[in-house]
Amino acid sequence: MKTNFPLPRLSVLATVILLAAPVSAQITNQEYAERREALAAQLEEGLVLAVGSAAPPQDYIPFHQNSPFRYLTGFTEPDAALVMEVREGRIAWETLLVNPRDPATETWEGYRVGPEGAREATGIEGRSVEELGHVMDSLLAATEVQELQVVGAYDPDAAIRNDVTQRVEALVRGHDGLQVSTAPNPYLTTLRGVKSEAELELLRKTTAITVEAHRQMMQAVQPGMNEFEIQALVEYTFRRYGSERPAFASIVGSGPNSTILHYNQNDRFMADGDVLLVDIGAGYGGYAADITRTVPVNGTFSEAQREIYELVLEAQAAAEAMARPGVHFGQMAQAAADVLARGLTELGLIEAPDATFEGENGQEIPQLRLFYMHGLGHGIGLDVHDPWPPILEPGVAFTIEPGVYVRPNLFDEVIPDTPRNRELMEAIRPAYERYVNIGVRIEDDYIVTEDGLEWISPAPRQVADIEALMAQPWDGPAERDPEWMEWYRQMR
Ligand code: GLY
Ligand code: MN
Repeated sequence: MKTNFPLPRLSVLATVILLAAPVSAQITNQEYAERREALAAQLEEGLVLAVGSAAPPQDYIPFHQNSPFRYLTGFTEPDAALVMEVREGRIAWETLLVNPRDPATETWEGYRVGPEGAREATGIEGRSVEELGHVMDSLLAATEVQELQVVGAYDPDAAIRNDVTQRVEALVRGHDGLQVSTAPNPYLTTLRGVKSEAELELLRKTTAITVEAHRQMMQAVQPGMNEFEIQALVEYTFRRYGSERPAFASIVGSGPNSTILHYNQNDRFMADGDVLLVDIGAGYGGYAADITRTVPVNGTFSEAQREIYELVLEAQAAAEAMARPGVHFGQMAQAAADVLARGLTELGLIEAPDATFEGENGQEIPQLRLFYMHGLGHGIGLDVHDPWPPILEPGVAFTIEPGVYVRPNLFDEVIPDTPRNRELMEAIRPAYERYVNIGVRIEDDYIVTEDGLEWISPAPRQVADIEALMAQPWDGPAERDPEWMEWYRQMR
């Protein structure tokens, strides 16, 4: 396995990012144009509308462009739309409709590029978004097929209509008989599943920033701190390296909170003897990292913590060892689950690798699922859960993240109280009491290469490496690195 960042200490991180990310790592307009043409080639004929995210209801709420629109245009202002007329598998005509320049509004909301600036920035002919209705009128007048092929989250059946749906419906109201399909979406999903070299560079950068945040966390954490102090340090580190935002709500869960999969209240004082599960990801250039480390709050794994930890690490290694082009992710998931089932049996938490318990309706559910309640991983990209193909191929970026979670409410609330289940609870009670409140997840990010796998998230994960880093004193965030800032200035 190739490792891009073998020693991501701060200065090394800076140097490695410098080496790994030439200015050309930006996604070019030509690449965006090729993506739109690739979509057109699949659709063959018709009118395509991609709708950017609407401006938030107040201008002091952060704006985030939706991923399908960003993928096709790279345009990150609110309220935009892309219209493409596709003929014989090519784009016959296209326009990008954007908010017009408006100094009064810009006083509050900041600079807008306007239609002319949009053309300069993207290479697509620009128009004011106020013309969207007229553009649709004239395109529909010239064609028999009264259908709009919408890209993105159009969902008229949802109880609460999202902004994309609302904007499409407003357009449809003015056109009797206009049909709407989401035909482009499966094609876009396939395109997004395999990343370009420029996208992979952005993923390497966002994971490098996230690795640095994990290293800071490992050095800083100690009993008596609140989870939010670690969240603050993590998100400070993201921003300090140019990450625009956390790609998802940071999960900083200690003790019982480590067993809650998407815990993000992050407000508990951590005690000596707790584990701390930190599942975080920077967003950089729109791309999401997603890396989890679990550490002992006091810097040294207890025996019980180490037993669970080593098991999860072994499950991850089993899946990782199989990953290469042509492998179905389901096979990797099975390999990891087999390791966990065998190990949990040895630890006494389940009765046998294939043992079951009785669900609410009497159904047989694997006991493994009491302690491992999620899938093995997912694609990463513009979204933290990004599209990806089930069979690995070069350019696919994804996570492997097994976990074991011994929940405090397992006996009282999770396992239905039946005679059969009472026997099970009696059998596993000693192990349960040994491991309760330990939640361990280990999550890494990878890129599939021609002959294997590139590990892009090398934060310490062996017990000895974590304990060694935690033993180093933390004396505040490391000094600002002028070399890195110069690189960032150049690459913007
Ligand atoms: N990082 C959260 C998740 O993958 O579900
Ligand atoms: Mn994840």
